Amino acid sequence: MAAHPISSHSHNAADLAAVLTNTNTTLRNASLLSALALVQQLPAMFVEAEDQRPVLEMDGDPLAFSHLIPIVDMSLLKSSDPAVRASPVADIAAACEKFGFFQVVNHGVDESLIRRCETEAHTMFELPLDVKERVHRPPGTSFGYGANTWVNQTVMHWAESFHMQLHPKSNIREFSGKLFAESDPTKFSSTVEEYMGQIEKLARQLLELLTEGLGLEPTTFNHYVENERMMSMRFNLYPPCPQPELAIGLRAHTDPHLLTILHQDEVAGLQVHIDEKWITVKPRPDCFVVNVGDLFQVLSNTRYKSVLHRAAVNGTSKRLSLACFLNPPLSATVEAPPELITAERPQVYRPFTWGEYLSNAYKFHPAMGGERHERFFLERS
Ligand code: OGA
Ligand code: NI
Repeated sequence: MAAHPISSHSHNAADLAAVLTNTNTTLRNASLLSALALVQQLPAMFVEAEDQRPVLEMDGDPLAFSHLIPIVDMSLLKSSDPAVRASPVADIAAACEKFGFFQVVNHGVDESLIRRCETEAHTMFELPLDVKERVHRPPGTSFGYGANTWVNQTVMHWAESFHMQLHPKSNIREFSGKLFAESDPTKFSSTVEEYMGQIEKLARQLLELLTEGLGLEPTTFNHYVENERMMSMRFNLYPPCPQPELAIGLRAHTDPHLLTILHQDEVAGLQVHIDEKWITVKPRPDCFVVNVGDLFQVLSNTRYKSVLHRAAVNGTSKRLSLACFLNPPLSATVEAPPELITAERPQVYRPFTWGEYLSNAYKFHPAMGGERHERFFLERS
């Protein structure tokens, strides 16, 4: 196939509009999948705006700065020596204040369970499109299989995604029953439920550590993750891309949630925006990447940062990430505690509910101008 120059963003946006205004998600997913699987050359609807392309990171060593994101050894937390235990707590707090991101090792989640969950995710993505379409995500909704697109988006992500929820009401068995009706539906659902269950345990432990790192009683925020809490997971699959320097796997964004616990396989792709640079997080399959979401930035009265990140794609290897999100109930009021509101650090946000935040979250995409949390500044209420 002859190469032709692709640089016009307006041409690209027009193509994308044709795909996205078609509310038939089967057609949308079919066009996504045929592009991801078959093309030798990047279709225009996947060509990113020049200022969003991960070009710089392709020069030099993309992992040169990855050491900036600390790896915290959670086994130290078991120490009976308070000084040993204090060091990971301080490291986590420092990382959340500076970067909003860190990795954890010796986290207590079985390695074999991670591998099994990754295998189930690959098995799911390898199903034929008509089978995956049994669980398609209807436009404007959160859960199911399909192209992951945000409101106002002007390019398609070079990725397939599948988003499920464990709490408050699981949709995993229903999805699994539809996807694996001809084989064994319980294998997928039991593996995913077990994985999310262990990640939730880890996330609760991290919630307490982050809270302790703010100088608060560790259990201060535990009421946010009790009965009606929300816990979901997205599988992201980034196939090899014919022109990776022109495409993006997942656009620059912050996570609206409380906490994100992400596992990436051995292929690099996750990049975090630190000091005006995009830093690639070196994949460590024995680690989880943890990041502060917008809600924790609010609860910490901006001591902790919810930081822009994105996923770059590459020309040779497919990449899988498992992203778990922990959240309060929709009705919970999100508000920094009085201990964190001082003369030097006055209250930044007005109180709001997670439901209110979520209903706006995907309308105001950070990379499209205007950070979504700014809509909840106290002065503006
Ligand atoms: C996400 C995310 C990054 C990745 O799913 O919110 O940021 O590496 N994913 O897949
Ligand atoms: Ni994210």
